[in-house]
Amino acid sequence: MARVTRLDRVEQSTRGRFAGPPLTPRTAVVWSVLAAELDRRADVELSVLDVGGGTGGFAVPLAQAGHRVTVVDASPDALAALTRRAAEAGVADRVRAVQGDGDALTGLVEPASVDLVLCHSVLEVVDDPGPVATALAGALRPGGAASVLVPGRAAAVLGRAMNGQMEVAAALVAAADGAAGPRDTLRRRFDAGEAAALLSAAGLTVEEIHGVRVLADLLPASVADAQPGALVELERALAGRPPYRDLAAQLHLFARRPA
Ligand SMILES: C[S@@+](CC[C@H](N)C(=O)[O-])C[C@H]1O[C@@H](n2cnc3c(N)ncnc32)[C@H](O)[C@@H]1O
Repeated sequence: MARVTRLDRVEQSTRGRFAGPPLTPRTAVVWSVLAAELDRRADVELSVLDVGGGTGGFAVPLAQAGHRVTVVDASPDALAALTRRAAEAGVADRVRAVQGDGDALTGLVEPASVDLVLCHSVLEVVDDPGPVATALAGALRPGGAASVLVPGRAAAVLGRAMNGQMEVAAALVAAADGAAGPRDTLRRRFDAGEAAALLSAAGLTVEEIHGVRVLADLLPASVADAQPGALVELERALAGRPPYRDLAAQLHLFARRPA
């Protein structure tokens, strides 16, 4: 019988107290997992760190929910857009933008001080994901949680093959890092086990793994656009269930620093 996951519990509890942004196939699963953690600590103003948080797609809604968010990002342009977005949302006082590198958080963020760290769509572009994962764990207080989003290797293989790029698909299967050479826009992709091993090696305990966009990238736009609500619900239903989970465009890992 399928295990009851954090996402199932959120569906059953109609997302609890955290009312985040409108859910889309790209964001529904991640927000649902985060909502469970936010609801668990509903009376606490959390210290949130978003590493490679970019223009604040997650940081600003989290600040609007009453939390204090620090975004560390390498790009000054992204941070400028983040600062504008936070001001427009009326949460400039809750969002701190810091230019820096994800593997050098010490000095930017007090070690062991953060309740929730986000690292979404970053580990695939950094030089080496190991030191970044270690830095994420080091920033978390004991008991704090990490939300990590990485690209799935299997979805990339299927996608390239369906586009007729058989050689690229074969290269993605064979390459140790799940990247198809120097012309690939990403430096690596992950299977669920590889991503979990990366976080475990950094000292985090992986509690849940979900697939993000199991179907969304496979469907013709006419189909996806015709039934957006049904697609979101189906994505949420499939997200925690292998083998669907493992075919998703992205893998979301929810992990915790042991208390
Ligand atoms: C694809 S975007 C993801 C943005 C955001 N996390 C999201 O999910 O929408 C990757 C972000 O990581 C930042 N980045 C890349 N390498 C980085 C590094 N070594 N340290 C910190 N940020 C980095 C980029 O500037 C960019 O804003």
